[in-house]
Amino acid sequence: MENKIILSGIKPTGRVHIGNYFGAMKQLVDLKATYAMIADYHTLNFIQNKDEMKKLILDVVIDHLALGLDPKETVIFKQSDVSAHTELTWIFDTITTVPYLMRAHAYKDAEAKGKEVSAGTFNYPVLMATDILLYDTDVVPVGADQKQHIEYARDIAGKFNNIFGETFKLPEPLILPDVGVVPGTDGRKMSKSYGNTIPLFASDEEIEKSVLSIVTDSGSEIPQNVFAIHSLFKTKEELEPLYNEKKGKYKDLKDALIIDIKKFVAPFRERREEIAKDEGYIYKVIKEGSQNAKEVADKKLKEVKEKIGVL
Ligand code: ADP
Ligand code: TRP
Repeated sequence: MENKIILSGIKPTGRVHIGNYFGAMKQLVDLKATYAMIADYHTLNFIQNKDEMKKLILDVVIDHLALGLDPKETVIFKQSDVSAHTELTWIFDTITTVPYLMRAHAYKDAEAKGKEVSAGTFNYPVLMATDILLYDTDVVPVGADQKQHIEYARDIAGKFNNIFGETFKLPEPLILPDVGVVPGTDGRKMSKSYGNTIPLFASDEEIEKSVLSIVTDSGSEIPQNVFAIHSLFKTKEELEPLYNEKKGKYKDLKDALIIDIKKFVAPFRERREEIAKDEGYIYKVIKEGSQNAKEVADKKLKEVKEKIGVL
């Protein structure tokens, strides 16, 4: 991964959970990503309340810092601070067709639920393509649910390059096989929108409550959901003797999982509490990150404007 440009984005839509962490955020920290973007304009599709938005943005930056992302190595920035994102989105809109956007999973799901889809939701993949392509990104660490969005970014880059000449790199997703879809307490994909999460910075009581709520199917002596979540924290070799010894004893296995999650979460939670005390520092990180991102993005946008003949 050396010399590769690594970028990912996260929507500040609520408390991050262990699915976000293992699926995407951990890779950002481990690989010392080039950019970590707070996708606040994507979030505006869901959060339309000033105070809530402000708090959620601050929270997600604190989360990243608590996980060990170092602002000296990774540019942590806010999408809305870099106006090149919305400007390039318009340019991409003119080469992206409506039938093509209608194939997006998120749009189809919203349609199927009978929702009146906003233009923002419809355009979501174009804005995300912009996020990635503005920075000549090579690799995008994400969970499996974002695979289609990376394909949109590749397609849009390819189309632009065909029409206007070589301008954008085609990005690759980084989806780790074992953690691409972390299951939630009900066995579906863990997601803020399903209410089936184990929050990453949870208190001990929250950890107990969420683990005890993991759905177990009585057909099997080894509770699959418990095992799947447990294997995020311990290797299968470590877990197999325990799960063999405690066959059918769901409560004992959940208790063991509670102990392991508590041990894992405690240092992150403590670091988070420490970092959260200094709001001035958080704002400074965002401000400096956004300035850095803006320099790179504006340069790319200028190149694009020259290519399309408006400059
Ligand atoms: P949520 O579905 O909880 O709203 P987000 O859409 O904010 O999560 O996702 C942020 C990042 O975390 C994305 O890269 C996404 O692919 C990843 N992610 C979310 N849920 C999971 C999961 N259950 N397993 C693996 N990765 C996930
Ligand atoms: N759509 C992503 C999600 O829901 C968030 C996101 C926005 C993103 N822009 C991005 C992820 C750019 C990777 C790269 O999780």
